[in-house]
Amino acid sequence: MASKQEWAARLEKHGQGHLLRHWDGLDADGRDALAREIDCIDFDRLATLVAELVKGEGGTTAEADLDRIRPIDVARMPRTDAERADRRRAADAGEEALAAGEVGVVLVAGGSGTRLGFDGPKGTFPIGPVSSASLFQIHAEKLVALGRRHGKQPPLYVMTSHENHDATVRFFADHDRFGLDHVRFFVQGRMPAVDRATGAILLSGPGRIAMSPDGHGGTLAALAARGGDGRAPSCLDEMRELGARTLFYFQVDNPMVDVADPTFIGLHRRGEAELSLKVVEKRSPDEKVGVVVELDGRPRVVEYSDLPRALAEARDHDGQLTYWAGSIAIHVLERSFVERLVGVHLLPFHRAVKKVPFLDASGRLVEPAEPNAVKFEQFIFDALPEARSHVVVETDRRVEFEPLKNARGPDSPDTVRQSMSDLFGSWLEQAGAVVPRRPDGSVPFAIEISPLYARDAHELKAKIEPGTVIEGPIHLR
Ligand code: UTP
Repeated sequence: MASKQEWAARLEKHGQGHLLRHWDGLDADGRDALAREIDCIDFDRLATLVAELVKGEGGTTAEADLDRIRPIDVARMPRTDAERADRRRAADAGEEALAAGEVGVVLVAGGSGTRLGFDGPKGTFPIGPVSSASLFQIHAEKLVALGRRHGKQPPLYVMTSHENHDATVRFFADHDRFGLDHVRFFVQGRMPAVDRATGAILLSGPGRIAMSPDGHGGTLAALAARGGDGRAPSCLDEMRELGARTLFYFQVDNPMVDVADPTFIGLHRRGEAELSLKVVEKRSPDEKVGVVVELDGRPRVVEYSDLPRALAEARDHDGQLTYWAGSIAIHVLERSFVERLVGVHLLPFHRAVKKVPFLDASGRLVEPAEPNAVKFEQFIFDALPEARSHVVVETDRRVEFEPLKNARGPDSPDTVRQSMSDLFGSWLEQAGAVVPRRPDGSVPFAIEISPLYARDAHELKAKIEPGTVIEGPIHLR
């Protein structure tokens, strides 16, 4: 290992010498651990990020670019019989891909879940409206059900972070992997948090740097990284070996995702797309979702905070928002696209201003009352302009989008459980049952249908006696 002087020389060059402030008080293991953390930081890149995103403007979509934004073509929800028949054909193609074992599933669960404030990985949060099944259980059982339907379970790749990896792996082991045949966990990269005024890297302990996960865009590099301390093949290598060439990507916080949706996979393949995404119609100009647009003929997601008010509020002659297509972070990617991208194209970093506890100069741990730090994160959707072809597919938010973000209010356990109950209520109605509704259309009690009982309304039909009256909370499993 290098000496303190050598580390100091390296750090001083980048104005980060303070990281060794407590070095003399550390034992050999502590020094070793700190040195390893320092060693994995790319200081040149960090200096550029600090100049641009901490001391600079911080925006990622240049003002000039915004003038050239146009609405993007979207495969809208089918409305006619012919359109529905066409979707059926796409679903058949997707089902063939699933049955042939050509689909892998990537679930990203490396986020810190700070807004939810739950003690444990977000995927372990008990969200089932009746059963309190965890997010992980619900996602996993959808894959088990798919395997039963198509004779082959797609392999699952779960992205974790340094913070939550061990707890995630333990949770799956404690639940016998929820019946999954093939699940692999891979850890995403990290970035140091810096002081928002000076750009100095923050220490979270005498020998520890305040590191945080590098954003869901970190998925691409993490899929390409070798596993098991460099001894195991990368996830991409393993997928190639297994014959999984199309990857379904989704995020842990949305329990409504139609995991490995055959229609979406079929549409993606028919369009010979490299990266595809699902969108929903934005509720209002203010809704905080990224908007999918075209910029110079290339697809692009513009963050809600970067979309100028005039564009967010623009309406067509029929009154619909011109930029209505909100991204819900559900993608299909070709494995070859990820392979092509990693190594040659670095996704940009975005800044997130957050409260990060840190050691001050006197060695005291400070819990800041106001956001004091900048974290750097990559976003998966920044890969979109690099795709040679893409497909954008509209879906119904009531069917597929209700993410768990906050402890209370919108996007909280209450709203997520209500949306799940509403969806399951509508499946029961489609199967011929009678379900009470409040005046606003929501169901008045908890309803839950295990993916192992029925994956959709169609499967449920075969199991429900038409005219069945649902009178209270019910869990079909
Ligand atoms: P969010 O950006 O909503 O973050 O992530 P979060 O961690 O869930 O919550 P906050 O912002 O700290 O409150 C959306 C999805 O992307 C994953 C999350 O696990 C979630 O599924 N994600 C996010 C990662 O896998 N890694 C990251 O570095 C960030």
